[in-house]
Formats: sequence, C-alpha cells, structure tokens
Amino acid sequence: MKTFAMNRRAWMIMMAATLVAPLGLVSQSTARGADKDDPPIVKFMEEINGAYKLLRRTARRKNFDEESQKQVSTMIEYSKKAHDAKVPMIEKMPEAKREAAYKEFKALLEKQIKTLGEILAAIKGGDNDKAAQLIDDLGGIKKDGHDKFVPA
Ligand code: HEM
Repeated sequence: MKTFAMNRRAWMIMMAATLVAPLGLVSQSTARGADKDDPPIVKFMEEINGAYKLLRRTARRKNFDEESQKQVSTMIEYSKKAHDAKVPMIEKMPEAKREAAYKEFKALLEKQIKTLGEILAAIKGGDNDKAAQLIDDLGGIKKDGHDKFVPA
C-alpha cells in the first residue's frame, strides 16, 4: 500500500536522523575524539580544536561574549601545554635534527599564544573587527604547524 510505503520511508529517515544527530554533536567538539592511547599533544589539540570551532562560529557574526573569552583562555591554556609536549613526528627524526625542529614547533605555538592574547584584548576592548581578523589569522598558524608537524 502506498501510504504504508511512504510511512515506512518517513520512519526510516527519522530513525537515521535520530541515530546520526548525536554523532554530529560529538564531531563539533572534537575532530575524531581523543582516544585514551593518544599522546598528550593530540589531547591538547582536541581541546584547542573544540574551543576554536565555537570561537570561529561567533567570529562570523562578531558577537563576542563572556563565553568567547573563556574559549580563548582555553586555547591559551592548551597551547601552552602543547608547547611543552612531545611531538610524535619530531621524536621519529634523527637526533641531530630534533632540536631545530622543536625550536620551530615551539616558535609557532608561541606565535599562536601571542595572537590569542591579542584576541582576548580585542574582545575585552570591544574591537570585534580586529578580534575576527586575528581569529582568521589563527587558521594560517594552524596550517603552518600542521603542514610541518602532522603526518599526512
Ligand atoms: C587553531 C589552531 C589549531 C587547531 C584548531 C589544531 C587542531 C588539531 C587537531 C584537530 C588535531 C588532530 C587531533 C586528533 O588526531 O584527533 C591536531 C593535531 C596536531 N597538531 Fe594541531 N591545531 C592547531 C594548531 C597547531 C599548531 C600551531 C601546531 C604546531 C606548532 C600544531 C601541531 C599539531 C600536532 C603535532 C598534532 C599531532 C599530530 C600527530 O598525531 O602526530 N597544531 N591539531
């Protein structure tokens, strides 16, 4: 019967949506969800990522609030932890190359921490255009870091 077929299809779509929706929520806060066996740097990056996603959403409308300030503070906190963490890719390099690689890695995270400090000051000072521009700039720093230190 046609009505039955349509109802069944509607029911299946509803079931699929119910099952898939929570997955969407999880993927909003983490890239793939930190695993307990992941190295600390991955866990720190997941925290940075969760806050960055929320912040970027707000930056589109430039309506920053208290939550935005907390997100920036979270990003600073975990960028500092990441700065002092071991990097799997560098650990696999020959020892002679590691020191220079860590220097470059740390310099990028210092740039990220400095930019985040400027974002916090811009939000607090009500300079929303500047804050949004700097949040965009973070994307470039992330790209540089990932191009160099995240395995393909
Ligand atoms: C807004 C800034 C950034 C965001 C949102 C971000 C986000 C992420 C995410 C989602 C991951 C993958 C975690 C997973 O495997 O589940 C990751 C991994 C990583 N990121 Fe970032 N990242 C940022 C900046 C940086 C910077 C600046 C560097 C380097 C200086 C960097 C270095 C790394 C490294 C080394 C890993 C781990 C790679 C591995 O699994 O060996 N990230 N990041």
